[in-house]
Amino acid sequence: MLVLGIESSCDETSAAVLADGRRVLSNVVASQDDVHAPYGGVVPELASRRHLEVIVPVVERALAEAGVRLPDLDGFVVTQGPGLIGSLLVGCSMAKALAYAHGKPLVGVNHLEGHIYASFLTGDPPEHPFLALVVSGGHTALYHARAPQRYALIGQTRDDAAGEAFDKVAKLLRLGFPGGPIIQKVAERGDPRAVVFPLAQMTDHSPDFSFSGIKTSVSLFVKRHAPLSEATVADVAASFQGAVVKMLVRKTVKAVIQTGVKRVVLTGGVAANGPLRTALAAEGSEHGFKVHIPPARLCTDNAAMVTAAGTDRLLAGERAGLDMNAIADLRLAA
Ligand code: KG4
Ligand code: ZN
Repeated sequence: MLVLGIESSCDETSAAVLADGRRVLSNVVASQDDVHAPYGGVVPELASRRHLEVIVPVVERALAEAGVRLPDLDGFVVTQGPGLIGSLLVGCSMAKALAYAHGKPLVGVNHLEGHIYASFLTGDPPEHPFLALVVSGGHTALYHARAPQRYALIGQTRDDAAGEAFDKVAKLLRLGFPGGPIIQKVAERGDPRAVVFPLAQMTDHSPDFSFSGIKTSVSLFVKRHAPLSEATVADVAASFQGAVVKMLVRKTVKAVIQTGVKRVVLTGGVAANGPLRTALAAEGSEHGFKVHIPPARLCTDNAAMVTAAGTDRLLAGERAGLDMNAIADLRLAA
């Protein structure tokens, strides 16, 4: 089954062609980092405009790289939500038009299910049931994937997403955008024990995450110690990163112990973070659970992961009508 999928929920325009939902024939990602960098964060209006400009060439490139023509396709997949409404609409309109013009089935996919499906595009896909920690610029949530297409929410952020915290702290430290990769790089030269930031809710028993407290602490530290030397910036970056990693890993280990589920998928843009990958893998060895982490290029937004999730839904008989609409706050589970 040959399927073309489109992802445009935030600031990457992406299209992919997959065979049988697992073999990636192409996965074209057009990043908008250059558009948003001057603002230190994604500007929704600029994002949807750029999607409009590049969506057709991105789809054409995905087809060319896969060596596939539109009439060869068996179906179309698109990210329906959650995400920026104007951005989602560009992908949804494109996918609907293609499905209508070629008379082929269409299905909408939850972006977070897409992130989880990145783990099925590796040589070592997880077996159900598994836990999935989805950490990105817009989301931080821990799911229990009980069976294919069946998810339960264990915990989620009460305020900022982990990636958002990386981006905001990078802005406070004047490091640039997107913050995650830059903080990771700068942190290599810093001491993670130099500054003690609060680990939110470590004492309460909630499975939820919170990152606004640590962001505020960094902001106060920067104000109090300005101007920061290069060495101090590295120490702050390392200490902040260390605290976020600790928070994410602790909640995940706790969920493993409470549910008894022995497999964990780490995915989403922040899963590209080296120290987070290492820390979770180490906990897995220590506590006897298996950790599945897709390669970084599949952790950040891309259409291949969405196409993988959508192909399974098409194979299960799911269909979207041409009245399908983008949903900014689409949920994966209650
Ligand atoms: O999944 P993604 O590409 O887009 C969303 O769905 O949000 O995630 C983007 C986020 C950004 O906040 C970015 O700073 C973060 O992922 N990120 C990282 C790293 N690479 C990307 N955060 C920490 N360390 C990284 N190496
Ligand atoms: Zn994402």
